[in-house]
Amino acid sequence: MNIILLGPPGAGKGTQAARLVADRGMVQLSTGDMLRAAVKAGTPVGLQARAVMESGGLVSDEIVSALIGERLDQGTGNGAIFDGYPRTAAQAESLDELLAARGAKLDYVIELAVDEDALVERIVGRFTCATCGEGYHDKFKQPKVAGTCDVCGGHEFKRRADDNEETVRTRMAEYRAKTAPIIPIYEARGLVRRVDGMADIGEVTAAIEAILDGR
Ligand code: AP5
Ligand code: MG
Repeated sequence: MNIILLGPPGAGKGTQAARLVADRGMVQLSTGDMLRAAVKAGTPVGLQARAVMESGGLVSDEIVSALIGERLDQGTGNGAIFDGYPRTAAQAESLDELLAARGAKLDYVIELAVDEDALVERIVGRFTCATCGEGYHDKFKQPKVAGTCDVCGGHEFKRRADDNEETVRTRMAEYRAKTAPIIPIYEARGLVRRVDGMADIGEVTAAIEAILDGR
């Protein structure tokens, strides 16, 4: 099963993808994570992407579709969860081609419906474990023991360079202008399922799992 998690910045795409990976052995393909890894490693892609990401704009379609193609070639276990890709009509077309070339197709596009005003708070409060990447939030999901990662016991945490209010507003505007318009394309193909992304994290997961199980 191959699915897209679609929603604005902070909608919970990464949070839900991680849970599906743990529960179902699916594989998360996050172009944001791939690009951040490239920036950190200082690769040519990272050097091109860095300033664009820090401004909240979109990296070129060619770069992100190439990253997805390379990742698909490594295999996707029990299915792929596309997180933060596609983000433009051109990327949506590329994804169809990349999947078709590998004899695969999309099963669902899960839209996380959210209230944009709440998202700024979600994003500005977000942090992750620097060792294992587990995600946390100042208000909604703190480590059980302050300063210690629940998963790996690490003590170092980090915040993303683009998680400030000004950049978040630009990211949201980019979502509205370039990404939201691809929803009708998938609606016309009968692939879209809408989930309430403002519910508790576990309830959102349960709603997605019900869709994947055809319940
Ligand atoms: P990317 O990394 O994809 O960022 P994004 O789309 O802005 O989304 P986020 O990762 O911020 O949010 P999320 O939906 O994953 O939310 P999360 O689960 O973390 O992209 C970053 C940049 O890379 C882009 O701006 C662009 O420059 C570039 N890029 C990436 N892909 C690209 C592409 N395809 N084309 C071009 N450029 C691309 O949740 C957020 C917080 O809320 C967390 O703290 C979480 O704990 C909390 N939370 C989650 N769910 C809930 C809930 N139900 N209730 C309460 N809190 C919750
Ligand atoms: Mg994310």
